[in-house]
Amino acid sequence: MELLNRPRRLRSNQTIRNMVRETRVSKSALVYPLFVREGSNIIEDIPSLDGQKRYSPDRLSGILTELTEAGVNTVLLFGIPEHKDEIGSGAWDENGAVQQAIRSIKQNFPQFYVITDVCMCEYTNHGHCGILCGHQVDNDKTLEVLAKTALSHVKAGADMVAPSDMMDGRILAIRDVLDKNGYSDIPIMSYAVKYSSAFYGPFREAAGSAPSFGDRKGYQMDYHNRREGMKEAALDVEQGADIIMVKPALSYLDVICEVAQSFDVPMAAYSVSGEYAMIKTAAKAGLIDEAAIVCETAVSIFRAGADILITYFAIDLAHYIDEGR
Ligand code: PBG
Ligand code: ZN
Repeated sequence: MELLNRPRRLRSNQTIRNMVRETRVSKSALVYPLFVREGSNIIEDIPSLDGQKRYSPDRLSGILTELTEAGVNTVLLFGIPEHKDEIGSGAWDENGAVQQAIRSIKQNFPQFYVITDVCMCEYTNHGHCGILCGHQVDNDKTLEVLAKTALSHVKAGADMVAPSDMMDGRILAIRDVLDKNGYSDIPIMSYAVKYSSAFYGPFREAAGSAPSFGDRKGYQMDYHNRREGMKEAALDVEQGADIIMVKPALSYLDVICEVAQSFDVPMAAYSVSGEYAMIKTAAKAGLIDEAAIVCETAVSIFRAGADILITYFAIDLAHYIDEGR
């Protein structure tokens, strides 16, 4: 019997395998999350995220140089304030860590594209992502402070804002305030399909943003739901989101796939802190090959349909691309 189809023909060596690859990872699709904290002369390790650090705005040049040399030019900033209050007023402080960091990056590393995370949880003394009314986060009151925060980032020079709070209507509220202030060209990347996830644990250690009571299930999505994710994405696209995000990534590849096929906007996936920590810890224990797993998982996210990947492994991935892995 003659066998007509022999898929192995296209797997016989690395050259042909590379030629027929369906998914190619490019450095231009990588975004690196960066923690900036108030203060000066600080570079400190983050115990929950082995290899990641918190930087004060005046000490960013080392990591930005490293990113530049690796070929990664986009960062997503998270702020860690010195003082927190009931309404998270530090979030829109023009001299806050994020606002200072943006100005410093734009001055010293103008080639960087700076995206900012817009949320209240790092700035509120209760750790919830908005303004409380009793034990609930009040949706519409929170919209105002989110919009104010986004505007303060853009005034400081941010290229794009990325609200991660999961309030209803926040894309419209932010778009409205930006447009009224002359920033109609600043895009919004919405954390549109953001699940309430235990994978955020290490981040909350890193940013000191764990809720002091309850959880985020009243605003972040229930991970049993896929259809609801399509609804969230549709609402944000309608409100003017330029890019929509699915988060976390690895346990949500089905959602990434469906969002990518259903909407005509670029799609980002956020491979979150718990995904990073799992790989780091297993590699440190000698159980897996870190570089191989980082490549395999990143490719799986792009293969599912993501156009952009936000990852703590961005620098490593850029090096693996250079090595032709
Ligand atoms: C703030 C925010 C969180 C993350 C990104 N923005 C934490 C949360 O929602 O609790 C998680 C990022 C990560 O785990 O890497 N709302
Ligand atoms: Zn938050």
